[in-house]
Amino acid sequence: MTLAQRLSRYQTANTACKPVASGRLDRVVGLTLEAIGCRAPVGSVCKVETLTGELEAEVVGFAGETLFLMPSEQLSGVMPGAKVTPILHNSGIPVGPELLGRVIDGIGNPLDGLGPIFTEQRAAFTSTPINPLSRKPIKEPLDVGIKAINGLLTVGKGQRIGLFAGSGVGKSVTLGMMTRGTSAQIVVVGLIGERGREVKEFIDEILGKEGRERAVVIAAPADASPLMRLKGCQTSLTIAEYFRDQGFDVLLLMDSLTRFAQAQREIALSVGEPPATKGYPPSVFAKLPALVERAGNGNENQGSITAFFTVLSEGDDLQDPIADASRAILDGHIVLSREMADAGHYPAIDVERSVSRVMPAIVSDDHMLMSKAVRQILSICRKNQDLVAIGAYKSGTDATIDQAFSFKPKLDNYLQQEMKEAVPYEMCVNMLRSTLGG
Ligand SMILES: Nc1ncnc2c1ncn2[C@@H]1O[C@H](COP(=O)(O)OP(=O)(O)OP(=O)(O)O)[C@@H](O)[C@H]1O
Ligand SMILES: [Mg+2]
Repeated sequence: MTLAQRLSRYQTANTACKPVASGRLDRVVGLTLEAIGCRAPVGSVCKVETLTGELEAEVVGFAGETLFLMPSEQLSGVMPGAKVTPILHNSGIPVGPELLGRVIDGIGNPLDGLGPIFTEQRAAFTSTPINPLSRKPIKEPLDVGIKAINGLLTVGKGQRIGLFAGSGVGKSVTLGMMTRGTSAQIVVVGLIGERGREVKEFIDEILGKEGRERAVVIAAPADASPLMRLKGCQTSLTIAEYFRDQGFDVLLLMDSLTRFAQAQREIALSVGEPPATKGYPPSVFAKLPALVERAGNGNENQGSITAFFTVLSEGDDLQDPIADASRAILDGHIVLSREMADAGHYPAIDVERSVSRVMPAIVSDDHMLMSKAVRQILSICRKNQDLVAIGAYKSGTDATIDQAFSFKPKLDNYLQQEMKEAVPYEMCVNMLRSTLGG
């Protein structure tokens, strides 16, 4: 049922709700417009008259007779008393194979100068949750082309993983390596709240020409309105869902989930929701799982959405409320370490602190044993490295420590990978086996 049909049913049932009419702008506080004299449901769009034309704004809340609206573009040219007209058909975003190779903004408009996008279908920004019992279980590994992940933190088709890191430790490069190396048929990249310069760099240098052919990029940079950033995340999920429902294996890369939470924080605070943890209002913690749960496997006839959400851990603090909340709702986390990046060890994946919760269910026993052995070696080396460095440990004292240190250089070599290099899954497992000496 469309929004307009639902509303008319509601109006018939509820005589107190008058038909929708035009209202006027009463007040502007920060980024929020307050309109009176019109009724529209939360989530619907209104047109607001401006000096130069009109702008679209979404209803994000109400108090009594006042509607709170959030514009999807820059707020300029609005005047006191400007006409506000609710439009009931929220047209959603275009979805279809025509999107492949394109770069769009948070609400589906092309950004790449390659002309308008015509698709047969459109889809809503949000979707009804899948019945958890009808989802396919995660059974098969997904190749992401990175040795450290394929070998030691194997990702399953339909898994949702957090990529936790501070700024500048290689999140974007790691995501870019996956877009080139993955076996997924479709890649959906959401660049949310990033610097505008990074968007172009990601598309031209990291994704490249052949990567773009099977990718859709959704960009809502830092200077886009909070609503646009929020919608950008939802649009990414909607597009990924469309391809999943067609039976494709989709890799969704979202950079970053923290910016999504921050956009929701801006919106919620401006409509008067009280802040809770670190300034984040409670609605943020409700929106996060609602977004993340949209990724994952579909039913038996559908494909999968394997999703990587980057999470900024401010000052490399993993206890940040968004990092904490995300870890609880994701099926695994990969931590990028600043210390390793500083030492020039790329990708700076800290295997010891990372975990793929579905790995035991999707790899062979032999593979799992190898991954455990690597963790043990890394842990022994880390605990004893200071002793070895200052010469307090003499080789021959403890056979396990000696053995661990003898494997360390080969392992470090295995864990490092050039930006442009993609290593297929089987090869990663074989290389791991030979690194550990069979
Ligand atoms: N696999 C790699 N090989 C070589 N260098 C790398 C690799 N990964 C990252 N780097 C280096 O780290 C730098 C920062 O990486 P990147 O831009 O991906 O970080 P980021 O975490 O996305 O940063 P920001 O938080 O600013 O978005 C790169 O410019 C590059 O020099
Ligand atoms: Mg980045």
